[in-house]
Amino acid sequence: MESQKQLTIGLFGFGVVGEGLYKILQQTPSLKATIKKVCIKDKSKKRNAPDSLFTTDKDEILNDPEINVVVEVISESEPAFQIVKTALKNGKEVVSASKKMLAEHLPELLQMQQETGLSLLYEASACASIPVIRNLEEYYDNDLLYSIRAIVNGSTNFILTKMFEEKLDYKEALLLAQQLGFAEADPKLDVEGYDAVNKWTLLVNHAYGIVSHPDKILFTGIQSIQGSDATVAREKNYDIKLVAQAKKLQNGKVAAFVLPQFVKLNEPLSFVKNEYNGVVIESGFADKQFFYGKGAGSFPTASAVLSDISALRYNYRYEYKKLYYHKPHELTNEFFVKVYVSFDDLAVIPKDKFEWIEEWHSDAERKYLIGVISFTALKESNWWRENNTSLILTPDPIIEDVEIRKLKKKSLELAGL
Ligand code: HSE
Repeated sequence: MESQKQLTIGLFGFGVVGEGLYKILQQTPSLKATIKKVCIKDKSKKRNAPDSLFTTDKDEILNDPEINVVVEVISESEPAFQIVKTALKNGKEVVSASKKMLAEHLPELLQMQQETGLSLLYEASACASIPVIRNLEEYYDNDLLYSIRAIVNGSTNFILTKMFEEKLDYKEALLLAQQLGFAEADPKLDVEGYDAVNKWTLLVNHAYGIVSHPDKILFTGIQSIQGSDATVAREKNYDIKLVAQAKKLQNGKVAAFVLPQFVKLNEPLSFVKNEYNGVVIESGFADKQFFYGKGAGSFPTASAVLSDISALRYNYRYEYKKLYYHKPHELTNEFFVKVYVSFDDLAVIPKDKFEWIEEWHSDAERKYLIGVISFTALKESNWWRENNTSLILTPDPIIEDVEIRKLKKKSLELAGL
């Protein structure tokens, strides 16, 4: 058997994840992986590691022939891309946790991996401690993956849990998420759904071979959810979660989005609290499977980085099987969704855009309706993001084109029309 490679690591970033990795590696000497240098921005900061380890010159790592692995865990996306690009060009394998960078530059990164034949691993970039990328890549390497629904952002899940179960106010909950090292440097990325859609861009690639860009996937975060929405959820025995969803439709194309969703209390995702993430995969024959684990934080994220480093010892690389060995799927907007919308003023709701409306509540704490609308209509408009309006998908929100006529007829009959 080929002996395991000695890994000499150049690390970029010594924040929550970088420092976590440094500590974990000290506790796993059997890995034959050592950090030779750490590149940081500000050398004057006090750090819990010897001064000689640190540099502010990226070339000390990128041009060091002894360093065969670059681990990049910085938060700025463009510098991260330059580091990863140069590292691959210079013949180094790369482990990254920069989901924004990876999602925004996916096509170039795919090409670079093909050209260099080197590994670029990024398990930590989605769902932190849950090995979801490698599972999608290796275990679900066929065409039988029907759907994935997931909570992929720890901070928003933490904030929702603290607000609606422990009655903290939004600011307190966010501050706590920041103090615990869950939130992004700019927490707007978490709260407004950017982080989740970046992760979802990567996961739909490994699930369905779709090479997309975060801009192409409809998303929002938890910024407009209000206490009254949580009251309605409770009345209906639902939780509110920020859910990333992808589903293969009968036309063979894939519906994908990241939106707040009502989740039934007996569903696995409703069990996911605080900074935990969860992934429910539905596939042919196996039915549903549920993956659960910490989705943010120093050690949980570093543990995924460690696992990638370990995989490099036996030259593991993503094969992007769905993209290169199967016919890759395409995204579609040709479907309908059932939504709950709460609002202050009925005048801002384009009622005629709805296929039908099932519930109207003008006497509730805050007015709301539940209705069915085409996904395209939602994607092409902004009314649901404005004027203090909140939009939450109902459980099992997707209605396929082929079903819409039958369901519309039924709903009109029920309404006596
Ligand atoms: N800010 C991210 C989250 C960190 O809360 O999920 C882990 O990717």
